[in-house]
This record gives sequence, structure tokens and C-alpha cells, in this order.
Amino acid sequence: MACKLEIEPTGDIVDVQENQTLLDAALRQGVYLPHACNHGLCGTCKVEILEGEVDYGAASSFALMDAEREDGYCLACTATVEEDVVIEADIDVDVDARSIPVKDVWGTVIKREMLTPRILGLWLELDEELDFQAGQYINYHVPGFEEPRAFSLANEPSSGKVIELNIGIIPDGEATPWIHQNVKVGDRRKITGPFGRFFVKKSANKPMIFFAGGSGLSSPKSMILDELENGCTQDITLFHGARNEEELYYADMFRDLEKKHKNFRYIPVLSDNKDSSWKGEVGFTNDVAKKMYEGKFDGNKAYLCGPPMMSDACIKVLMQGRLFEKDIHTEKFFSKA
Ligand code: FES
Repeated sequence: MACKLEIEPTGDIVDVQENQTLLDAALRQGVYLPHACNHGLCGTCKVEILEGEVDYGAASSFALMDAEREDGYCLACTATVEEDVVIEADIDVDVDARSIPVKDVWGTVIKREMLTPRILGLWLELDEELDFQAGQYINYHVPGFEEPRAFSLANEPSSGKVIELNIGIIPDGEATPWIHQNVKVGDRRKITGPFGRFFVKKSANKPMIFFAGGSGLSSPKSMILDELENGCTQDITLFHGARNEEELYYADMFRDLEKKHKNFRYIPVLSDNKDSSWKGEVGFTNDVAKKMYEGKFDGNKAYLCGPPMMSDACIKVLMQGRLFEKDIHTEKFFSKA
């Protein structure tokens, strides 16, 4: 029998099934709770139990310390219930967030293509359309691996039933090498989503600067295509960092978009260029952005997706250039490789 979960301070009430976690129940009914790893490891989903009792599940002692349990906290991504409960969550109201229930969808792999020597493009045709906001991610269920892997959606939401994932290989990872080697056209796969709060803050109505590195281009690609398709008039600049031209992908598509849309600018930046015919920028995206914006970033919104070293360097330059934290958005999810 389902129990009731009431979430304060919003007052939302959702049903929780037997053995279903509080987080899963909320997200599947379109109610947002903060989360990142979904596996009891990061502590992002910590909530206070105001009424009722929970089974704590596999919460790690790093993410939920004994003293916190004693003070009445639990992790929403591991806790289950056998009675009605009331919790208090630290929820930032985001006026740009749509309430989209998370769901499981099966699909068929219809295309695979190496986008760079290290990034595999996978296209799946889903059995039913997946509603999402450009910038969000899905969990991809990999046969033989208990935990699904999180990948950003690289397509724009108007793509119908076809979704695109860009999967960078992590050589000492487990699932990404497996996917690169084994996934083939015709395979059936389950995905779960959408997740995440990384999307364009349309209500801000400000020029946008995107920084992307590696397969971190997925979300910016989806967001930029969506913005341009929907007639965005704000200026949009994309800095895409790669080691060399071989690792730069979708460059032709972005150059075409630049020709078609006066408000879009594409700046590829190579950090390890050995080709003297390259006429673009060289170095790191943060340095190139600093030079182009003359060190002043106030009045913009920045969206960052890429390796932590790139993001940290960009955040430093943006903040030095008077862009405050509330206008700097990073993709936050943790997933094993
Ligand atoms: Fe629950 Fe990470 S500990 S989302």
C-alpha cells in the first residue's frame, strides 16, 4: 500500500510505493527535490524528517553522519517508508524549471558514430517521446552494471522520439569503455529521465556565454539549438575547448549556425594545437574569453560544462570579471565512468 510523503515548505504531497525511495517517488510525480549522485554518496538530497519514520537504506556514513541521523535527517535517494512521513527539504525555487515527471522509456539504438577519437555519438529512437528541458540529462541503463550512467541529452527537445547522447570514453572507467565497444545499432536500451536543473534561465533575459570542453558540449548544443529555434534575440557565445582539431566536433554545424543567426558566435579554442593551418584561437577558453570580453562579464549569464579544471578556471575568470555566483551555472551530477 502506498504511503504519503509531504514535502515542506512547498506542501507538495506524493505517493510512495513499497521499497521506493523518497527521491524517486517525488521526481516521478514531477516534484523536485535536490539530488546529484542518486546513490547515497554525495549528501545533496539530505532532508529533515519532521513526522514519521524512515528506513535509511544504503546511505554512506560520509553523506549522512550518525549525528545527522540522530538529529532526524535522512537521504531522500536511499530512504524508504512504511508509513506516512513529512519532510523538510532545502528547495530553491527556480522560476525557469518546468515540472516534468521522471519516467522510464525504452528505445532502440538507430545510429552510432565516433564524433572524435574519444567521443561516441549514440542516437536512440524511443518508444515514446521524452519531455525535457534543453540541458537536462538522463540515466542510461547499461547491461551488466547495477548503476545506470548519467549522460546529458545532446539533442534539442523538438527532436521528437530521437535522442542523442555523446559518450566520452574514460579509459579506466567500466561502463563507458563497455558502451564504446559493445553497443550496436538495433540494441534495445532503457533510459530514465529527465533529471537536472541545468537549463537556460530564460526569465533572466540576459546574453549567454557557454563554456564547453570534451563531451561537455552535449548540454550547450541542446540549449543553443533550442534557443535559436525558439527565436531567442539575446546574444549567445559558445567557447568550445578541445586539445586539437581532431577532438573538436560539431564545428561545421556551429559555423553554419553563426552564418544564419547574427546573435550567435562560435569560438573554438585549441589547447594543444600543432597544425599551423589552424586560424582560430589557441590556449584555454577562460583566457580567450577574458581577452574577448576585456575581463568584464557583468550583465551576462554563464553556463559551464566540461572537466572540473576547465570549469574552475572559467569560474575564477568570470568572478574576477564581476559575474556573481547567481549568474554562473554549472552542470551538477555525479556518475561513475
Ligand atoms: Fe542522495 Fe547524492 S546522496 S543524491
